[in-house]
Amino acid sequence: MRHLALTIIGFLTLAAAAAEPASIIIQTDKPGPAISPLLNGIFFEDINFGADGGLYPERVKNGAFEFDDAMMGWKKIAPERGKAFFTICTDKPVHPNTARYLSLYGSAAGVGIENEGFCGMGFTAAASYTFSVYARSNDLKSLNVELLSAQGEPIGQATLSGFTSDWKKHSVQIKPAATEPKGRLRVTTGSAGTIDMDLISLFPDRTFADRPNGLRPDLAQLLKDLKPGFMRFPGGCIVEGHTLANRYQWKSTVGPLPQRKLLMNRWNDEFKNRAAPDYFQSFGLGFFEYFQLCEDIGAEPLPILACGMSCQFNSGELVPLNQLDPHVQDALDLVEFANGPATSTWGKVRADMGHPAPFNLKLLGIGNEQWGQQYVDRYEIFAKAIKTRYPQIKLISSAGPSPDGKDFTFAWKRLRELNADIVDEHYYRDPAFFLKNATRYDSYDRSGPKVFAGEYACHVQNKSNNWLAAVSEAALMTGLERNGDLVVMASYAPLFAHIERWQWKPNLIWMDNLRSFGTPSYYVQQLFSLHRAARVLPATLGGDSNGLFVVAGRSADDKQVIIKVVNTRSEAANVSIKLAGATDVQKSADMITLSGDPKDENTLDEPLKINPKAARLSDAAANFTHGFPANSLTVLRLDAH
Ligand code: AHR
Repeated sequence: MRHLALTIIGFLTLAAAAAEPASIIIQTDKPGPAISPLLNGIFFEDINFGADGGLYPERVKNGAFEFDDAMMGWKKIAPERGKAFFTICTDKPVHPNTARYLSLYGSAAGVGIENEGFCGMGFTAAASYTFSVYARSNDLKSLNVELLSAQGEPIGQATLSGFTSDWKKHSVQIKPAATEPKGRLRVTTGSAGTIDMDLISLFPDRTFADRPNGLRPDLAQLLKDLKPGFMRFPGGCIVEGHTLANRYQWKSTVGPLPQRKLLMNRWNDEFKNRAAPDYFQSFGLGFFEYFQLCEDIGAEPLPILACGMSCQFNSGELVPLNQLDPHVQDALDLVEFANGPATSTWGKVRADMGHPAPFNLKLLGIGNEQWGQQYVDRYEIFAKAIKTRYPQIKLISSAGPSPDGKDFTFAWKRLRELNADIVDEHYYRDPAFFLKNATRYDSYDRSGPKVFAGEYACHVQNKSNNWLAAVSEAALMTGLERNGDLVVMASYAPLFAHIERWQWKPNLIWMDNLRSFGTPSYYVQQLFSLHRAARVLPATLGGDSNGLFVVAGRSADDKQVIIKVVNTRSEAANVSIKLAGATDVQKSADMITLSGDPKDENTLDEPLKINPKAARLSDAAANFTHGFPANSLTVLRLDAH
């Protein structure tokens, strides 16, 4: 009877508490752990035509004739009268790594080739593009180069001449008269004769940070605007390859362009329903360019290297443990490439590419999403060799593709035993997982390795990049920041997708040939990054706080209390906020809000449907009440002491 009475009283107390309005108490005078300054970073992988056809703005597809089908992307142009021959040759090439070239013969002028680009070529009126070709000829007088509209009308034209019997790079600038998202390139002979051509290129003269062989400015700017602490590259599964033979090998991606050996992209045939037979890696965007991009956007470089295992979802091929040496040497050489003096073997390669100063590499990933004993065995060998030579480099190891389960538990146990530095966890899960895991790291063991949430994205039912996905990610990210002493780095994945050529979704940024936009998830990432606190402040949710998430912290200059509140409810939440320990709170404060309908998405035509709205709060105080909109992320920056 007494038990029943207590139960009823308990129930009534709970009901009363549930009816209490939501509250947040922040201990402003009890700063907790420091938050990693690298916490918010980016993950780049050449998936969804993110590199060739995306960030790397080369307009010509298969300009080196090295695709499996040497003429893929090219159309032959032969006038009805006269003879024309198109031959793929390999004798005396420009460089053995680009062994094939096209030999073109015409008995009269007008023979040529047309390139379709990546879903067409994007041209901007009056912008300038450099056409270049390695060519040799004994008798051809000239080449006509034309930029074509989607309808095949010439919108830009130039002529090349002065060919010799030796390979020589010829180039000319062209300015299209009109903007065209789906243009093409046509190259035709100006006389009878034969010409050998290789490495045909049409490259925009304007690149991000004005780098030669640089990157598409709008896309790189979107990255810079995230103020990323680090950039992980070049992936992802692309690191591992379907097989060991097509793993990513950084040495093939550096040096002069003709030396870079093309490789099939592993996303070429990974998904039969999104097959991309024309998806290859030219490596025009290679390791040098990645390091340089990191420098240009202020991010710490984080290269991830293959570790003697191909993708375990594919062939799962293994390099025997006693044959790992060359693979380990690749890792050691990479550190030398990044950090070694210009007089060292690999430091010289960097210097010759135009960067004598070191890139100051501090982080290196061993394997991508590997798991099991086979991974731990290989990680151990890599770690021993790298730590012996470069003890200051922090190594990232893998907890496998899943954030829980047998393989995950095994990886963590063994990596703890091996004193690993930072363990990489991946989660592509539904909204419920993201809300539940907002407290995931609150109880993690602090004595072992740090955590890298290296790939995550909320997958809603149709995998769209809607606001529901983004607000769910925001909820989880409150937990990442609150545990920013343990979770030292985190990155959404994947980063880029071409609207017509994607293999995987959702993604952070979408593009076509000329336009791009950040998804709602992009703006969530941006708000967390731009408003990351330096130290955690204890924050407690009380009352009816279901569906609410909070993280609070002190700014680096100690002047501000930064509060991030995520309201995942479908109605606004009135929350009383107490800044415990604060005696001096300015009434006026900055407030940035992201909110929308859960189904809302940004698109090329409506790129800012969901975007941050800045406003001033005028009633901040040590105790105040604020209404957080339905489905929202709000950042409050209060001057409080
Ligand atoms: O981000 C897409 C893929 O997801 C990555 O390549 C891989 O690491 C993960 O499985």
